[in-house]
Amino acid sequence: MPLVTSKEMFKKAYEGHYAVGAFNVNNMEIIQGIVEAAKEEESPFILQVSAGARKYANHVYLVKLVEAAMETTGLPICLHLDHGEDFAICKACVDGGFTSVMIDGSKHPFEENIALTKQVVEYAHSKGVVVEAELGRLAGVEDAVKVNTKDATYTDPDQAVEFVERTGCDSLAIAIGTSHGAYKFKGEPELDFARLEKITNMLPGFPLVLHGASTVIPEFVALCNKYGGKLDGAQGVPEDMLLKAGKFGVCKINIDTDLRLAMTASIRKHFVEHPADFDPRQYLRPARDAIKAMVAHKMRDVLNSSHRL
Ligand code: G3H
Ligand code: 13P
Ligand code: ZN
Repeated sequence: MPLVTSKEMFKKAYEGHYAVGAFNVNNMEIIQGIVEAAKEEESPFILQVSAGARKYANHVYLVKLVEAAMETTGLPICLHLDHGEDFAICKACVDGGFTSVMIDGSKHPFEENIALTKQVVEYAHSKGVVVEAELGRLAGVEDAVKVNTKDATYTDPDQAVEFVERTGCDSLAIAIGTSHGAYKFKGEPELDFARLEKITNMLPGFPLVLHGASTVIPEFVALCNKYGGKLDGAQGVPEDMLLKAGKFGVCKINIDTDLRLAMTASIRKHFVEHPADFDPRQYLRPARDAIKAMVAHKMRDVLNSSHRL
């Protein structure tokens, strides 16, 4: 089976009122943990690669690892560029085997975001690749870019409609209060569900995307801290809010931080308990299992995407 786009996945998710998890991948163990979970859960999923992941692992290595995952599991896999910042990186991924790209023009003024997104949509569609765009700005850290809370702006529903009509994008990431990284909220977590509902009603049938959607599960923060970590005050989006978002037209939910925390907690624990170990397989095997368990939990309890293949 070749790589697939997210078109069919989103259509089913929208109609079934659940969301597809998009998990960030950087190496073999992360990819294996995710696909093993998807296989057991019979769940759709997206593997996404950031510019930082491409730099770290190399584009070709990542594509080949994903192809290997597809060949060994027989699962349909959508390979997606996460937060493409310009036309060049989107084109490189379209030409280099990805089936979906994100052009993130959210830092630009409205008209510039539209022009950039249109350019990517025209190219990607001519090659059968789908495009996610972003309107509104999330707070938090992504790669080298840090957006302060005061610079974050929620998505305007009227602008969202105009943006989708004028760009022809296939899905839209919106800002309703989530943020990237492990420190999403100071105080009570809150998402603007009224805004989400309005956007969904104004764009019926259109897939919306939620970035910065890790929960920063306290148990994993505590585990990191117990074994020498220092993650005081880390806090994410409560799982019931994500489950609710999936019922309101959000078809794709992005998760990276929770995988990082699960993997890091496992590796920290291993070295405290086995200080004499130096065989990478001894700590990467449990780390891969930790990714698998985290992804299976997300599919079952947060995305509601299990048994939807
Ligand atoms: O939203 C960003 C993702 O968490 C990817 O992070 O750019 O550090 O790979 P990264
Ligand atoms: P988290 O940092 O909440 O995992 O978000 C990941 C993300 O949005 C990737 O694009
Ligand atoms: Zn993101």
